[in-house]
Amino acid sequence: MKVELTINGATHVADVEARTTLLDCLRDKLGLTGAHAGCEHGVCGACTILVDGEPARSCLMFAAQADGYEITTIEGLAPAPGELSVVQDAFCETHGMQCGYCTPAMILTAHSLLSRNPSPTREDIVEAISGNVCRCTGYGQIIEAVELAARRLAGSNAAEDAR
Ligand code: FES
Ligand code: FES
Repeated sequence: MKVELTINGATHVADVEARTTLLDCLRDKLGLTGAHAGCEHGVCGACTILVDGEPARSCLMFAAQADGYEITTIEGLAPAPGELSVVQDAFCETHGMQCGYCTPAMILTAHSLLSRNPSPTREDIVEAISGNVCRCTGYGQIIEAVELAARRLAGSNAAEDAR
């Protein structure tokens, strides 16, 4: 069957089976390999993408179910090719990644949190990333990264407001 998906603002058509997960469609049909396959049954969060801005496990969705939703993957977060989003940059700066396997999902989850809650407490951040497993256990630096991104986004908003 053909599915038409809106991913990172662009329309993609893919030929899939009815049982094809969104994760497999993204990775194998569309070459968007930033969503990682971990447990593939909804536990680890490595496959997290955003559906209408909310984190969702792409291993638990069929590609056909994604029709009509705005899908965001890590490939769509940077403002321009070769650049990093504020959240991505903060993860680099605080060493919020080790092997990097959980990182796209963590960044998308953080991006979604900061879109809803620009001034999260540490508890808010811990709660937000609680569905994402980091096998390298780098949670401390990940939390620091989200805090840094929140401060930077607040600063840039303040600068814009002052204009
Ligand atoms: S791969 Fe989807 S939750 Fe683990
Ligand atoms: S950085 Fe290795 S799994 Fe999180």
